[in-house]
Amino acid sequence: MPDSSAEPETSGRRESHFLSIAGWRASSLERLLHLADDVKAERAGTGRSLAGRTLGMVFAKSSTRTRVSFEVGMYELGGHALFLSSRDIQLGRGETIPDTARVLSRYLDAVMIRTFDQSDLEEFAAYGSLPVINGLTDRYHPCQVMADLMTVREERGTLDGLVVAWIGDGNNMANSWLNAAARLGFELRLACPEGYDPHPDDLARASAETTVTLTRDPAEAVSGVHVVMTDVWASMGQESEAEERREAFRGYRVDAELMALSHDGIFLHCLPAHRGEEVTSDVMDGPRSRVWDEAENRLHLQKALLLTLMTDALEPDSTADK
Ligand code: CP
Ligand code: NVA
Repeated sequence: MPDSSAEPETSGRRESHFLSIAGWRASSLERLLHLADDVKAERAGTGRSLAGRTLGMVFAKSSTRTRVSFEVGMYELGGHALFLSSRDIQLGRGETIPDTARVLSRYLDAVMIRTFDQSDLEEFAAYGSLPVINGLTDRYHPCQVMADLMTVREERGTLDGLVVAWIGDGNNMANSWLNAAARLGFELRLACPEGYDPHPDDLARASAETTVTLTRDPAEAVSGVHVVMTDVWASMGQESEAEERREAFRGYRVDAELMALSHDGIFLHCLPAHRGEEVTSDVMDGPRSRVWDEAENRLHLQKALLLTLMTDALEPDSTADK
């Protein structure tokens, strides 16, 4: 299967999955954020609206937040979630993705997948007949970035005029932030060491749509921004590169001095954090940190996403983004 994840599709069919932020229209992303606010405020009447529905959660990588927030979210909506480690199901012994997708489609109402290749997710979506949610791949982490945007909106009330700085690795989080900037039209500045830039396709698409700067200088990137973000220097699957990455990322740590260059910016981190590496403890625990709200918002945002994909919580907007 070709990896079509980088193409900004806008068809209704792709919006029946959540594989990447680029796959959704701006209007749908905005309505998802509004629904998440309502879910958080318990105004949406979500009650047991997914009663009788089951979400499968396939994990080929570790997780704390994603696993727990999806499972609790389904429980709170009256449904059920199944944890399926790819090491324990037949997928890990060579059953193909198409066959697994066909079979799981006969049991489940939706599936959340955390894995390595984005193309595996695309393949699952192509052969299954149920909504597929990206719970993190090497390429993207869209649920996290939508929860981050929810957190930013809670802080500022709006995404209008937003300027965001990304410090460190041009990884799955950075790529999803590029997609979000492209779709929602805010400014994104990235400071990455040479050799660790984001995916060129995501960078090119975002640069064509909005103001994107890629620099080697963290101080230049954070000057006057509303949000400062970073992530681990070695992502899951890159553990063997940890030592060389520690060398490459020296100088890309978010500390109090760097935070002071922002415009009273808040600090976000998807977590887990390596305190003392990409961020100092005084920033993580400091007055500008919103990392715990950010982690909580995974729950609310994903409940809104589950409602959207499994019910008609978001009416299709046929006039949007034509
Ligand atoms: N941020 C995030 O996705 O955390 P987990 O790896 O714990 O799920
Ligand atoms: N970039 C990190 C995010 C973890 C939530 C990783 O992929 O490991």
